[in-house]
Amino acid sequence: MLFVCLGNICRSPMAEAVFSNLVTQKNLDDHFVVDSAGVSNYHIGSPPHEGTLKKLKENNINGSGLTARQVEPSDFEHFDYIFAMDDDNIKALNDLKPAESTASLKKLLDYVDHHDTRNVPDPYFTGDFNETYDLVTEACQNLLHDIRINHDI
Ligand code: 4NP
Repeated sequence: MLFVCLGNICRSPMAEAVFSNLVTQKNLDDHFVVDSAGVSNYHIGSPPHEGTLKKLKENNINGSGLTARQVEPSDFEHFDYIFAMDDDNIKALNDLKPAESTASLKKLLDYVDHHDTRNVPDPYFTGDFNETYDLVTEACQNLLHDIRINHDI
């Protein structure tokens, strides 16, 4: 399970931490490898944005040890499911995706049906980490539910 955004400092590390926390709460750690990456090289080696860390802390979710990295073609071999935050990420990922890859590539907000767009608002630009956190959390809950049903876990 790889979550991908542009910089790997706001949205995708938030999704990684939120999804990992749900998995741990349900004692399902043995079933998942959860990671995140950015399509850009802008913030390689950096910790998450302070706004992301603040929301995680507020919700008692561990945000330590998250370090930005750039997505690479081998990610399409290592991960069965790749979730992008927006259309630009999807475009960049499709350019990188090896022709033989069978990894599933979807947008995270395909798992939220009431939002007006299928793109996760980027709080790096909106400044609204609350809105992004709520959407990411709802999507991660729905996503985990779906995977559990589809894989009988
Ligand atoms: P993210 O947000 O893709 O959710 O990590 C961004 C972080 C950094 C930049 C853009 C978006 N940037 O342009 O540096």
